[in-house]
Amino acid sequence: MSLTAPTPNALHEAAEEIRAGGVVVMPTETVYGLACDALNPQAVRKVFEIKGRPSDNPLIVHVLSIEQAKSLTTSWNDAAEKLAQAFWPGPLTLVLPKAAHVPSVTTSGLSTVAIRMPRHHVCRALLEACGTPLAAPSANVFMGLSPTRADHIDPEILVEVPIILDGGPCEIGLESTVLDLSGENPRVLRPGAITRAEVQAVLGRPLGDAPPGDVRRSPGMYSRHYAPRAVVKIVDEAPKGEAGLVFTDAAHEGQVRMPRNPAAYGSGLYSALRRLDQAGHEVIYVEAPPTTPEWEAVNDRIRKASGTS
Ligand code: TXA
Ligand code: MG
Repeated sequence: MSLTAPTPNALHEAAEEIRAGGVVVMPTETVYGLACDALNPQAVRKVFEIKGRPSDNPLIVHVLSIEQAKSLTTSWNDAAEKLAQAFWPGPLTLVLPKAAHVPSVTTSGLSTVAIRMPRHHVCRALLEACGTPLAAPSANVFMGLSPTRADHIDPEILVEVPIILDGGPCEIGLESTVLDLSGENPRVLRPGAITRAEVQAVLGRPLGDAPPGDVRRSPGMYSRHYAPRAVVKIVDEAPKGEAGLVFTDAAHEGQVRMPRNPAAYGSGLYSALRRLDQAGHEVIYVEAPPTTPEWEAVNDRIRKASGTS
């Protein structure tokens, strides 16, 4: 299917498609998502099929309001309220005990549900038009790079989805921060643009991490994920003649000069990897960014692309 500008008419059609149990691609401020009615098990099954995603890999449910978020969980706790007030709408996903009417296919049989209130205006307009929470994984085939532009959506997805809403390049470019608030201690399951320090400042307590290798708790932790076809090697300095993401002047077309600011780097990372991948380079040398806390999400995705996390 071709890309569609998010006109009122296109939004209306997309909402109709979702209400009828279909699947559409929508922009969010993080990455593009493959969206369907989160409360319709058949629709959710289609999303898993289109993505080629294993059924034990739960989806994030996108909501328009805190009220809608509360309706999906049995325990909207103090931490959730504080974090939602501070960071929603935005790139933060909260994992909470699920309400009974959230289908188990959406949460892969887990007793928890991942909830996020996105801030992209097109995504919010779609949520409003369809009136239901939207389950949406990133709109890539399983284990591939998340699309951060509509023209980066995989052909395998384009052939299956009738409406692709083109909202332009995604501002953030990395998937949301995922926090587990369902246990005793809040834990980071996936780092993202909302940093650990920002969350800790709001909660007034330190955050834990998911135990290493606990793939079932958060499948984003597979060691090779968010990966291009090319082999990614993390190095101090990229060899001059090779393809790579570099911090100094690009030596040739196969190198992309990356910003020294973590937000700007994050927003361009997947596009840059995709470009070099599509140019057919077999190895992409990525110059290691700083290891300071504000680079945590970028370093996480680079390690995952290289299979060394
Ligand atoms: O920014 C984003 O989060 C994007 C956009 C489209 O919103 N979505 C996204 O979805 O990245 P996906 O499916 O690619 O990643 C969802 C992550 C996975 O790491 C998954 O394990 C975790 O959320 N997750 C979902 N439900 C969970 C649950 N109940 N408990 C623990 N982790 C969960
Ligand atoms: Mg994904």
